[in-house]
Amino acid sequence: MINTDLQRRKDAATPRGVGVMCQFYAERALNAEIWDVEGRRYIDFGAGIAVLNTGHRHPKIITAIEQQLGRFTHTCYQVVPYPSYVELAERINALTPGSHAKKTAFFSSGAEAVENAIKIARAATGRSSVIAFAGGFHGRTMMGMALTGKVAPYKTGFGPFPGEIFHVPFPIGLHGGSTKASLAALQMLFKADVDPTRVAAIIVEPVQGEGGFYMAPPEFMRGLRAICDEHGILLIADEIQTGFARTGKLFAMEHYDVLPDLMTLAKGLAGGMPLSAVCGRAEVMDAPAPGGLGGTYAGNPLAIAAAHAVLDVIAEERLAERANVLGARLKERLEGLRGEVPQIADVRGPGAMVALEFMRPGTRQADMEFTKQVQANALHKGLLLLSCGVNNNVLRFLFPLTISDAVMDEALDLLEAALRAAACRY
Ligand SMILES: Cc1ncc(COP(=O)(O)O)c(C=O)c1O
Repeated sequence: MINTDLQRRKDAATPRGVGVMCQFYAERALNAEIWDVEGRRYIDFGAGIAVLNTGHRHPKIITAIEQQLGRFTHTCYQVVPYPSYVELAERINALTPGSHAKKTAFFSSGAEAVENAIKIARAATGRSSVIAFAGGFHGRTMMGMALTGKVAPYKTGFGPFPGEIFHVPFPIGLHGGSTKASLAALQMLFKADVDPTRVAAIIVEPVQGEGGFYMAPPEFMRGLRAICDEHGILLIADEIQTGFARTGKLFAMEHYDVLPDLMTLAKGLAGGMPLSAVCGRAEVMDAPAPGGLGGTYAGNPLAIAAAHAVLDVIAEERLAERANVLGARLKERLEGLRGEVPQIADVRGPGAMVALEFMRPGTRQADMEFTKQVQANALHKGLLLLSCGVNNNVLRFLFPLTISDAVMDEALDLLEAALRAAACRY
């Protein structure tokens, strides 16, 4: 098969709304490498958008899925339950921050977890409003879009959205924001737009993913917790992108000294199998009546089997520590290039959740063209990189945490070359 033929057939058979970044088609993959249908190899620094923290086809995860294939592939948990679902809920309840009683329900996608977290928060509080943050991303369903704080391309043409959703600026120091200003905006919202006693939840990504890999400052998270406690609002941590060792801890909320009431999990949870979860305080999770939560495929047994293996691999291979080592190595290389690449405005991120932000030299203007150029150069050299940010001027690095030292070194050399080549053109 030839990539160009497939591209033509794709354009004829599938809608452009499903935007596709690469013009080559995957044939097989292993750990941090993908080969296309023409045999070309790429190093995968996208990991299926932060999903493959444990790499492509980790042998333990493959074995777990194969063993489950030999037992059963679907019963619908709500019809005939299976022990592995309950056991996974127990493991997640024990591993997530806080020693309070917790319960977990499984779903299929990240957006579905977000939808259900909001349903649970509304049922538990009897309130309807939800507060989210500018630049945040929470999925492509109706509530996911409503909560998302980036219009194009996620919301364009799809409204009206569910009501009573409000956005507040996320505290991004690099762009002139601050914890003080964001918390003041929240207080102003309570005066101008919504009575805090009508607010069911505040949903926040501890590190904004799609929005640009900005980490919420500890005092901001503390401020949110205090406001939630004052007004009986639930704090939801959307850890769909930050979870499962990416930030150097199993969950990003472990970087803070406050606890969320609910957490949404997906992506890295099941190593590429479609699985998501809402985990939270037992009494909050029990608010919806029986039958109010679930879904035909929610908690699919193959995905649950994969998730058990993912948790084993993260512990056995100490992937949270590995994330810190790999992230530090990447940051050091990027910092070393600041002199040669004046477009580098910031190198940041906890653990391996590292990002590189570009601005036009000598200005504070986002440099989207430069970002695209680096990405194109890297892809041409065989390194797959993803961008992010409201202004599309950030490169985010999402390599599998299982990547070998040799492949990581090779990727860093390719990245350096891609940055240098782009800087030369300007
Ligand atoms: C923080 C966050 N929430 C929700 C979602 C939506 O997840 P999904 O694409 O699986 O629906 C994403 C996906 O990128 C995400 O990063």
